[in-house]
Amino acid sequence: MKTDVEYLEFLWPMRHFLITCGTIKGESNIIAVSFCIPVSKEPPLIACAIGKGAYSCKLIESTKEFIINVPSEELKPKIYYCGFHSGYHVDKFKETGLTPQPAHKLKVPIIDECIAHMECKLKQEIETGDKNLYIGEVIEAYADEAIVKGEKKINYAKGDFPRKVYTTRFKVS
Ligand SMILES: Cc1cc2nc3c(=O)[nH]c(=O)nc-3n(C[C@H](O)[C@H](O)[C@H](O)COP(=O)(O)O)c2cc1C
Repeated sequence: MKTDVEYLEFLWPMRHFLITCGTIKGESNIIAVSFCIPVSKEPPLIACAIGKGAYSCKLIESTKEFIINVPSEELKPKIYYCGFHSGYHVDKFKETGLTPQPAHKLKVPIIDECIAHMECKLKQEIETGDKNLYIGEVIEAYADEAIVKGEKKINYAKGDFPRKVYTTRFKVS
């Protein structure tokens, strides 16, 4: 016997990422994103779905660049801060104390406290429903040396299904 479910629940737990956008010398911002998946290996493409009202959409569309930073579980409180506040109202680098550092190739800052970074050039933008899907080509990727050498294990930040946020129900026929 099958019963109706909140279908999104079956895609969890999801990893959390911190996407940076804007420029290190001008306006920059951090957004918490979980809807983030690789969609091509060659060329290397990653797709991120971001809500249409987000300040990050404005910055990504203006610079055509963004960086996916991989945070560890210890950064959870800062991830939640970035996920519950908008760059329209607060400076998230300032409020979280996270450190912006120059990226290798892009003008977007990386977050120094994160363990890995994927510099992406915006390749395609697709309007989906309540989100825009930003497909970025990874032009540079690097991570903490201790992680790469296997001396340190990655404790990925991830979370269970946020029941209160997603209430969509999927009807089973
Ligand atoms: C753990 C976590 C994951 C999130 N994942 C997404 C996501 O995948 N896409 C999205 O549009 N918003 C996501 N959000 C919500 C945004 O981070 C939030 O709307 C943010 O305030 C937008 O910031 P901005 O206006 O500065 O761009 C997530 C929030 C949290 C806490």
